[in-house]
Amino acid sequence: MTANSNQTRFMLNESDLPKFWYNINADSPVPPAPVLHPGTKEPVTPDFLSVLFPMDLILQEISTERFIEIPEEVREIYKLYRPTPLMRARRLEKELNTPAHIYYKNESVSPAGSHKPNTAIPQAFYNKISGVKALTTETGAGQWGTALAMAGNFFDIDVEVYMVKVSYQQKPYRRLIMEAFGAQVFASPTERTNFGRSVLAETPETPGSLGIAISEAVEVAAMSGGAKKYSLGSVLHHVLLHQSVIGEEALKQMDMAGEYPDVVLGCVGGGSNFAGIAFPFLRMNLLEGRQTRLVAVEPTATPSLTKGVYTFDYGDTAMMAPIVKMHTLGHGFVPPPIHAGGLRYHGMAPTLCALYDAGYLEAKAVPQLATFDAAMQFARAEGIIPAPESAHAIRAAIDEALDAKQKGEARVILFNLSGHGQLDMSSYQAYFDGKLKDYEYPEAAIKDAMTHLPQVPVMA
Ligand SMILES: Cc1ncc(COP(=O)(O)O)c(C=O)c1O
Repeated sequence: MTANSNQTRFMLNESDLPKFWYNINADSPVPPAPVLHPGTKEPVTPDFLSVLFPMDLILQEISTERFIEIPEEVREIYKLYRPTPLMRARRLEKELNTPAHIYYKNESVSPAGSHKPNTAIPQAFYNKISGVKALTTETGAGQWGTALAMAGNFFDIDVEVYMVKVSYQQKPYRRLIMEAFGAQVFASPTERTNFGRSVLAETPETPGSLGIAISEAVEVAAMSGGAKKYSLGSVLHHVLLHQSVIGEEALKQMDMAGEYPDVVLGCVGGGSNFAGIAFPFLRMNLLEGRQTRLVAVEPTATPSLTKGVYTFDYGDTAMMAPIVKMHTLGHGFVPPPIHAGGLRYHGMAPTLCALYDAGYLEAKAVPQLATFDAAMQFARAEGIIPAPESAHAIRAAIDEALDAKQKGEARVILFNLSGHGQLDMSSYQAYFDGKLKDYEYPEAAIKDAMTHLPQVPVMA
C-alpha cells in the first residue's frame, strides 16, 4: 500500500457508522476464566448478576457470537459524534523528525470528551428497555460519570455517581457537568453506605480509590431491592465489546489512508479504550495473518499488567463484586494520587489479561513526568490538550516514533486519543509548577497485597 501523501483527516460518512460490535471472545484462543461469586467462590449465575445488570448486558458478557448488532436507538445517539476522525499527526512527525507515520483515532470529539459514551449509551439503553429507572456508578477522573450522566439524561434514567474524593476535589467542573445532566454526585468514600462509613472510620483522610467507589455504587444498587442497577465504565466484557466501534472505524480509515499499522497503542485503566481500538486489529492478526503489535500502556504508579500478578481477585475493595482472574495489584490497593485518575484501578479487564498472559498483547509502563512531557509535545504540535490518561498512549507512540527514527524504519503507528484534557488543567498546573513526581509502585506492596487474595478452588 502507498500512503495517501498529503491528507491529514480521514473521515467516514454517517452511513459508515458500524452496525455491529465486534466480540473478541468469538476468536480468542484463550477464553477468560469463569467469574466467581464473592461469597461462595463458585461460578456466578445470571441470577446473581441480574441484581446489578439488565439481562441483555449479562448475555453480552458471556456471548461468543462474533458480531453483535448495535440497536438502532443506540446508533442514532452515536451519530451525535461518530464516526470519529482518524488523524495523521503530520506536525508531530515533523517535530520528531521521524520517518514513522503517526495516526491517532480522536475519541475526544464526543460530547463528554472521551470514549466513555461508546458504552454509556448502550448501557443506559439496555437498562431503559428492561424498565430500570435509576443507575449507580463510580467515576475516577470524572469522564465516565460525565458520559453516564449524559446517557442517563438521553434515556430518562436517574444517575447517582460515587466520585473518587481526590478527583472530586481536583475537578469541580466535571462534577458540575454531571449535575448539569441531572446526575447526583458524591465524594467517595461517603457516609451514605456501610462500606463508605467503615472506610472513613478507619482512614478519615483517605483520597478514595476506584475500588472503594465501586464498592459504594455496588452496595447502593444491591440494597435497593431492584429499584437501582449498577453500571461500570470499564473492565467488564460488554464494555470492551461496545468500545469495538473505535477499532472497526479505524480499520476502514487506515484503509482510506492507504496504510496498515505496525503497532497499535492505547492507555489502560480497566482496559476498555485499548481493547476498543486493538481487538479489531487482533482479529486481523488471528484470522488474516497480520502481525500488528498491540501495546497497552499503563503508568508506573499503577502497573497492573507489567507488575501485577495474574490471579483471582475481587473486583472491588469491599469484596462485594465478583471475583475474576486478572492482573492485579490487590483489591486493597489505594494508589498514590497520580494525576491520571482514570488509570488508578487495581485490576484489568479479564478478557484483555487472558490475551496478554498468552502473548497476544504487549504492555508497557511509562512514568508520569515523561508522560506529561509527551502530552505537551503533542498539544503544541497538534493543538489538542490530551487527557492525562491518553497521554500515556502518546508517550509510548512518541517512543515508537523515536525508535523507528533511530533504526531508520518507516513504521506505521496508530494510537487512541481516548479523551481531551480541557477539564484536567489542574493536573497540568501541577506539572507546570514542578509539583509532579515520578512514582514506581513498590514490589513489596504488591507482595503484601497477594497475601489477601480470595482463596478459590483451583480452576481446571
Ligand atoms: C480519557 C480516559 N482514557 C482512558 C481511561 C481509562 O479507562 P479504560 O482503560 O477503560 O479505557 C479513562 C478512564 O476514566 C479516561 O477517562
